[in-house]
Amino acid sequence: MEKRRLTAVILAAGHGKRMKSPLPKVLHPVAGIPMIARIINVIKKCGAQEIRVVVGVGKDLIQPLVTQLGTISFEQKEQLGTGHALMAADYETLEGDVLVLSGDHPLVRVSELLNAIEEYKNEGAELAVLSCNMKNPGEFGRIVRQKGQLKAIVEAKDASKETLAIKEVNTGIYIISAKLINKFLPELRASNKQNEIYLTDIVSMAVEAGARTIVVPVSLDTAFGVNDQTQLSKATRRIVQRKVKELLESGVMFINPEMVYIEDSVTVGAGSVIYPGVFLKGKTKIGSYCVLEPNCFIMDSEVEDSVQIKLGSYIDGSKIKTRAAIGPYAHIRPECDIGENAKVGNFVELKKVQFGDNAKASHLTYLGDATIGDETNIGCGTITCNYAVDKKKYKTEIGKNVFVGSDTQFVAPVKIGDNAVIGSGSTITKDVPANALAVARGRQIIKEDYNKG
Ligand code: UD1
Ligand code: CA
Repeated sequence: MEKRRLTAVILAAGHGKRMKSPLPKVLHPVAGIPMIARIINVIKKCGAQEIRVVVGVGKDLIQPLVTQLGTISFEQKEQLGTGHALMAADYETLEGDVLVLSGDHPLVRVSELLNAIEEYKNEGAELAVLSCNMKNPGEFGRIVRQKGQLKAIVEAKDASKETLAIKEVNTGIYIISAKLINKFLPELRASNKQNEIYLTDIVSMAVEAGARTIVVPVSLDTAFGVNDQTQLSKATRRIVQRKVKELLESGVMFINPEMVYIEDSVTVGAGSVIYPGVFLKGKTKIGSYCVLEPNCFIMDSEVEDSVQIKLGSYIDGSKIKTRAAIGPYAHIRPECDIGENAKVGNFVELKKVQFGDNAKASHLTYLGDATIGDETNIGCGTITCNYAVDKKKYKTEIGKNVFVGSDTQFVAPVKIGDNAVIGSGSTITKDVPANALAVARGRQIIKEDYNKG
């Protein structure tokens, strides 16, 4: 059998006024990923040959993102309703079947879309409406049936009291044959309370014309639409809950699973322990047997096995190798690579640092644009002066097994050889050879009986 073409059309031109936000609704992040990107990612797994996105309000911000994600955007100049939005997607050029969705349903499940597409095909339908039963159907359009058969979709704002009592609602997701769209879309009219051209009216038209129509029930997740900030926060919470459940089932331990934020892109190995208040974001990978103490924030970072991240540490765009210990209150900025069994202690800030195996910076230190060799000890209060008056950054290279006394400043660019010793309180401006002692501080002078009191 010839494979029919499947095109997905996402309607995303609306105002999203109820968000009360300057950002277009579909760009609001749900667990770190813009709503519209989540939907596009889901649709990509449904076998659509083409994805069209209808944009309008905030198009200058939305278009670059959706284009980058490989979709084609169409502009709906005036927001005259969902039917009008589909018209804007060059509907005359549609062929085969069309999956229509809204840009504000970020929890849509791939398996349910695939199942609906399958059922639509098996039933030889021309229109499938994805529905859901809700205790509180609120603003959703109601599925009106006659003798059990689909008859129409009626918007809550246009519904009678009896219709409003219906618990079966329209998710706003449909599969419609391009033929049916081309036949009925031009006939849609704005004859309702909102004065909008409703896409939902295509249902009664199709039924009256005797087209084969079906209703496919889906989960509350797929039906979940975001129209305000409360719903946005619920959608994020839902993604995090799904992720935490998956991690609990795979052997990750949580002291309080309700009190963490973990994005679905993150991985955590079995046997790791996560304390309350931990944030794990983006491309973060956490190994096995790690301990993440309260209030750690880790984004786009790789943490190998058996690492301890102590209370209140912030790690961004870095790699922490096995058995290292970080914090409490450490700040690891992008492009750091912390060696095996290394120790980065409290109030230590690192940026673009290669930090060797077994190296230590236990307290109150800033290292930037630096390499620190294996086994080297950085004393308390050490600073690399990497930013010069010419507004350029310079490197500090410290070899292996170096002993850096407390309160040392390295004025970059500067190189310190292996096994060197730096006297406490030094301001190092020149290279130090291997095995040497460098002291660069004022000598102590004693004036007896100076304070006559
Ligand atoms: C719509 C459905 C309703 C369904 C609900 C599910 C209609 C008439 N109603 O209502 O039956 O229960 O979705 O969430 O279709 N949009 C445009 N251009 C427009 C208007 C809307 O692109 O001119 C887009 C919006 O950006 C949004 C989607 O279409 O992504 C749905 O629009 P919205 O106004 O949120 O419709 P609902 O009132 O939620
Ligand atoms: Ca909506």
